[in-house]
Amino acid sequence: MGRLSLAYAVVIHALLAVAIKQQNVPLAFRQPESKAVDYVDTLIGNGGDSPNGSGGMIPSTAPPFAMTRWVAQTDVNYVSVTPYNSTRRTISGFQGTHQPAIWMGESGQVVVVPGTGHVRVGFVERAMAFSKEEEVHTPSYYSVKLEQAEGGSIFAEQSASSRVGHLRFTFTDTTQPYVLLEATRASVMGSDDPTNVTYPSGTLTIDPAGREICGSNPERQDFIIGPNSAQGFAGYFCARFDQPFAAFGTVQNGTVRVSERTRNGTLLAGYAAFGNSTDIVDVRVGVSFISVDQARRNIEREAPDGTTLEETARRTRAAWAEKLDRICVEGANGEGLTTFYTAVFHTLQYPYEQSEDGHYYSGYDDEVHEGESYTGYSIWDIFRAEWAWLILLAPERLPGMVRSMLQDYTEGGWLPMWKNIVETNIMVGTHADSLIAEALVKNVSGFDSALAYEAVRKDATVPPANDNTTVYADRQENVGYEVRAGLSSVYEQRGWVANDIHSEAGSRTLDYAYDDYAVSIAAALLRHPADASFFRNRSAVAPFSIYNNVTGFMEARDADGRFAGEDEGWTEGDKWIYSFDVVQDIDALVTARGGLAAFVRTLDAHFDGGHNDHTNEPSHHIPYLYAIAGAASQGQARIRSIAQANYNSSLNGLSGNEDCGQMSAWFVFSSLGFYPVNPVSGEYVVGSPFFDKITVDLPGAARPLTISAPRASRAPYVKSLKIDGRNVEEPFISHWDIADGGDLVFEMSDKPQRWASGTIAA
Ligand SMILES: *[C@@H]1O[C@H](CO)[C@@H](O)[C@H](O)[C@H]1NC(C)=O
Ligand SMILES: *[C@@H]1O[C@H](CO)[C@@H](O)[C@H](O)[C@H]1NC(C)=O
Ligand SMILES: *[C@@H]1O[C@H](CO)[C@@H](O)[C@H](O)[C@H]1NC(C)=O
Ligand SMILES: *[C@@H]1O[C@H](CO)[C@@H](O)[C@H](O)[C@H]1NC(C)=O
Ligand SMILES: *[C@@H]1O[C@H](CO)[C@@H](O)[C@H](O)[C@H]1NC(C)=O
Ligand SMILES: *[C@@H]1O[C@H](CO)[C@@H](O)[C@H](O)[C@H]1NC(C)=O
Ligand SMILES: *[C@@H]1O[C@H](CO)[C@@H](O)[C@H](O)[C@H]1NC(C)=O
Ligand SMILES: *[C@@H]1O[C@H](CO)[C@@H](O)[C@H](O)[C@H]1NC(C)=O
Ligand SMILES: *[C@@H]1O[C@H](CO)[C@@H](O)[C@H](O)[C@H]1NC(C)=O
Ligand SMILES: *[C@@H]1O[C@H](CO)[C@@H](O)[C@H](O)[C@H]1NC(C)=O
Ligand SMILES: *[C@@H]1O[C@H](CO)[C@@H](O)[C@H](O)[C@H]1NC(C)=O
Repeated sequence: MGRLSLAYAVVIHALLAVAIKQQNVPLAFRQPESKAVDYVDTLIGNGGDSPNGSGGMIPSTAPPFAMTRWVAQTDVNYVSVTPYNSTRRTISGFQGTHQPAIWMGESGQVVVVPGTGHVRVGFVERAMAFSKEEEVHTPSYYSVKLEQAEGGSIFAEQSASSRVGHLRFTFTDTTQPYVLLEATRASVMGSDDPTNVTYPSGTLTIDPAGREICGSNPERQDFIIGPNSAQGFAGYFCARFDQPFAAFGTVQNGTVRVSERTRNGTLLAGYAAFGNSTDIVDVRVGVSFISVDQARRNIEREAPDGTTLEETARRTRAAWAEKLDRICVEGANGEGLTTFYTAVFHTLQYPYEQSEDGHYYSGYDDEVHEGESYTGYSIWDIFRAEWAWLILLAPERLPGMVRSMLQDYTEGGWLPMWKNIVETNIMVGTHADSLIAEALVKNVSGFDSALAYEAVRKDATVPPANDNTTVYADRQENVGYEVRAGLSSVYEQRGWVANDIHSEAGSRTLDYAYDDYAVSIAAALLRHPADASFFRNRSAVAPFSIYNNVTGFMEARDADGRFAGEDEGWTEGDKWIYSFDVVQDIDALVTARGGLAAFVRTLDAHFDGGHNDHTNEPSHHIPYLYAIAGAASQGQARIRSIAQANYNSSLNGLSGNEDCGQMSAWFVFSSLGFYPVNPVSGEYVVGSPFFDKITVDLPGAARPLTISAPRASRAPYVKSLKIDGRNVEEPFISHWDIADGGDLVFEMSDKPQRWASGTIAA
């Protein structure tokens, strides 16, 4: 096949796939009606030929920000492996997962496995073939037909509320139906060596009269990293069946004990078998981080007895519709809408609910507290645009999400960096400073701002333990809170983190400088003027302490001041990318790099040389720097080609890890035509809106936010912009121009325009 016909074949296949997908969803599971939710394809981002080249997304069913997401399990998941891989042709159960991203570990999961005949427990032994064509996957409902080795099949259907997985199994031409609950398994420690496993020890109790199988699983794959042991952590579950048990038993390490009601230990599961005439089994699995009793209460609250699968699915679909229907897109084809709405869907999953019924388990002090709590904070990623997007589309969540971080501070001593149940020390910088400053700037209320300031100030002033001797390498084991490693060695005195003492020192220097700026913004708002000027000053000095004016690039330095080499000290980027990483002071960066024209040439060299790497976050803001430097039209072309190359409606439609919504937040903001380059500035930089018109009904806003850009799909260049009738000449939009709704009118062109392009207009 020639290239062109291959391209057509790919497109036609994709269109057919969307059509077939819609057709297969039973009407009952398309209620309430929502075109926006229908466009979501939960498989996008599951492809990619390596863990780094994949979105790491899974076709899970769960409401927005759900505590537990349920997914058909094809793989034993661990750091670098997700539970579902679309290349597989067997399913080994349905997992209630808490793995928030492909590079993070699972914790406290439970797996439900239907079967027939003799009870099979091992992951391979229990695997069932399924037909890919008949698989149905939506945000609120998933179904699949599982072939049985002895003949016959099980039609498995799945939905979920935040804390209850709801499954229904229909047995056809089978005998001896059963359902197994897996409490504990062998836990693979990491991708380096899949034979390196630990054996978490859980509990299991079977109550045949109550038709329940309950238990707990303390597995937490990230326990080896991070400062908090979360000794008492477990995922609890309580599975309640609608059918009487004909038989039941426990299984441990392959040994079946018929009629045993309780057992603790490793490799532990329990099953309920049903009469041969039973053809439908409905099971609701309450999950909890607090206790089995709480798991049971979560069933009472979210899916009490008598709740049908249809009802659970309808509520979850309604929760998605409540968000997605707020956005109306004109001028996109089906694939464009699928890409767009799936991106929005991806931005509304994290951070996720960790509290239940007004209480939460804290792994920081191993106690249950009153309050609202969230986990799954990939802050080094989400501070860029995901947080700004949540402030716009999910403002009702923001106070709780900020309070949750402050609780972590109170209970654990520090704000989170990457919280996966507890701190994991993943990535660098204390960008919670940015989340809090941005919340203050954007008038998020409902948290203790004095406490918040105390917490960010501590980040900026207190170094971690053994700061001069511990490297704090990526995923270093047995170390305390990493926070601003290197703060005390040189950073506080001369501006840089020493590359010969700390890992990723170049990235740290630039990230700490940004965080200082965020702290200065918070200080100014909360009336600490001396702090505001101190941190602002430090944030201005630090970045340029590693600018090598001979090479024209940022370059990490050793403690003695010597430059460490241009490839040293970067994380998820290189000298090209990080040399654009001074979002709080682009003017100074432009000056350092030779003025506007020279700066635009470095941007050109960066992109034309293939140095931009959109699969990782440090590149995300770079195309928007063109506009700031007076070369908006060039940036607009770059933004369009980045969107084209890195996002689409196929399985591989995310070029890099989703990272808890940041990849998709870039796409969503870029679609709207602006992006928060410096999130704590309260300002967005104008790019190139993708669609003819987008209307967003922002929660609580007085009127809709309307962005009209006729012919945008074929005309990427901005000729003019009006906000509420006012001509905008500079490529900036204030948060307050849009937060309460607004009317943005772009005039678009298929040729580069002079608008905000003074540097290159010549
Ligand atoms: C899914 O499996 C295929 C085949 O083994 C593998 O190449 C791919 O990397 C896997 N996907 C992910 C995201 O790990
Ligand atoms: C993949 O990503 C991980 C985590 O971000 C990183 O440690 C690793 O070096 C990357 N591998 C490759 C081949 O890029
Ligand atoms: C197993 O993996 C853990 C976590 O990465 C590591 O600390 C440990 O050394 C590994 N054990 C072996 C025997 O490789
Ligand atoms: C499981 O059983 C096998 C053999 O019966 C034994 O070698 C192994 O140690 C057991 N594993 C655990 C985790 O109990
Ligand atoms: C299992 O452990 C729980 C608490 O962890 C305890 O209450 C129970 O008695 C144990 N059951 C068995 C059979 O050892
Ligand atoms: C169910 O059917 C199987 C296979 O026909 C048979 O062996 C088994 O005894 C039946 N079970 C009951 C409880 O009747
Ligand atoms: C900020 O919030 C307060 C109260 O929550 C309100 O009075 C004030 O008008 C808000 N400011 C803006 C700019 O919206
Ligand atoms: C690290 O060394 C510097 C001097 O280079 C000193 O001022 C600082 O107190 C030391 N920090 C710690 C945590 O020991
Ligand atoms: C800013 O930092 C520089 C260099 O560290 C110092 O000389 C200057 O006094 C500082 N200014 C303020 C206002 O702190
Ligand atoms: C280059 O940087 C060095 C310090 O690293 C400084 O002494 C020198 O003045 C700078 N040169 C220019 C032209 O800015
Ligand atoms: C979809 O995007 C991925 C990058 O995420 C790319 O590799 C793939 O070629 C694109 N597919 C199509 C059909 O455009």
